Amino acid sequence: MDKIEIVQGDITRMEVDAIVNAAKNSLLGGGGVDGAIHRAAGPELLRECRLLGGCDTGQAKITGGYNLAASHVIHTVGPIWSGGSNREDELLASCYRSSLSLALKHELRTIAFPAISCGVYRFPARRAAGIALSEIQTFLRNYHGIDKVYCVCFDEAMADIYRSWLVEE
Ligand code: APR
Repeated sequence: MDKIEIVQGDITRMEVDAIVNAAKNSLLGGGGVDGAIHRAAGPELLRECRLLGGCDTGQAKITGGYNLAASHVIHTVGPIWSGGSNREDELLASCYRSSLSLALKHELRTIAFPAISCGVYRFPARRAAGIALSEIQTFLRNYHGIDKVYCVCFDEAMADIYRSWLVEE
């Protein structure tokens, strides 16, 4: 599936139609990739987020990209890992599906994802990567209109985890 590319780097620098933010339910900013995206986008992003009324876990909402290279930010809220018996897998899968659906609806053709829930929310990385790639591949098989999906891993270790899944596919 050459529409999916694993890259190691900083998602705020991706020149794509939309980057996906691993946000919290309030959508009012935080640390990790959320903090990096808000810092790079500038204060206008938070001003727009304040108007969105938050976001449920597993769902996604879209804003402008402001000072980012990306024209849009799709904010999604991943599940907090709590052992795996609280629908975490299902909610994480929903983050990818909801974000891709929103990109399609807005006719955005290139999108970059971080490793949603793999930081502060402590989702096991290998398990999360498998869910991410499986959901992205399924979506790209069922819908047309997305040209490229980047999985942007902040560090090489995470990039290796993603790549190991792609080899297995
Ligand atoms: N570019 C790409 N990936 C990044 C970047 C970046 N600039 N910064 C961090 N990451 C990676 C982390 O290394 C991790 O693999 O993003 C992944 C997700 O980690 P978090 O940002 O901690 O997100 P998450 O685990 O989903 O937790 C979300 O953290 O920052 C708060 O407001 C946020 O409450 C929310 C929670």
